[in-house]
Amino acid sequence: MALGRQATQPRGANRHPAADGPRRVVARAVASAPQPATSTSHAQSGPVQGPIIMNGQVLHSLTAERLDVVRSLEDGYLQTQVVPLLKAVDKCWQPADFLPPSEDADFLDKVHELRQRAKNLPDDYLVVFVGDMITEEALPTYMTMLNTLDGVRDETGASQTPWAKWTREWTAEENRHGDVMNKYMYLTGRVNLKSIEVTIQNLIGSGMDPKTENNPYLGFLYTSFQERATKVCWGAGGWGRAGVERPRCKRPHVRGPRTALAGCLARAC
Ligand SMILES: [Fe+2]
Repeated sequence: MALGRQATQPRGANRHPAADGPRRVVARAVASAPQPATSTSHAQSGPVQGPIIMNGQVLHSLTAERLDVVRSLEDGYLQTQVVPLLKAVDKCWQPADFLPPSEDADFLDKVHELRQRAKNLPDDYLVVFVGDMITEEALPTYMTMLNTLDGVRDETGASQTPWAKWTREWTAEENRHGDVMNKYMYLTGRVNLKSIEVTIQNLIGSGMDPKTENNPYLGFLYTSFQERATKVCWGAGGWGRAGVERPRCKRPHVRGPRTALAGCLARAC
């Protein structure tokens, strides 16, 4: 495991800060903060020795005071303001709502209609669509990232804390986005799907290190800006610039990629 590459705080504490690289300056700044709240290894091994640095980032930089803040949000703010934002499953659209029903006798006719409409999509549109799709399909990476965060991670895989419940149900909602896009792309016949699938497998296998230090303060700042950026990007590339109508959640069969994309955007991705 990569933890084998951990490094403790560097020696030479009396050296001038300018002699150190940026990484060491960061390490000292965190070390001067209140005592770290959590760390499996250092909590058991006695006094804190200093920040653990891996791949240029400090691990477990959340302080005890800030952990208290994070946990204090559970029963009040999170339970009453955040968890209710999760839609009930029966109120959510599903990928099948936007695709030709494969159980129907005229399925192939509908696929033919879909392919006729898709054949005139410009290549640059497809490139953007596939890029967005790959991003959605890397969802396991994002759930993994959320579960690196101290104080909010899902400790069991089915934890009933509001933080864990949010992470799982957000992931479940998100899962529809890549699903509908992938199925649509497959049906259009406009892309080399195997190449895309190989890319997705490589992307998930490579993982992502957003340098958020297991710290929910940093983690949620990151995801807030990233989600906003995603919405702007998709709006510009999907229906915003194309003037596509917001979808109605009434099984609008094979209206084309923009409807499918708009379906994703309806949940702000
Ligand atoms: Fe999404």
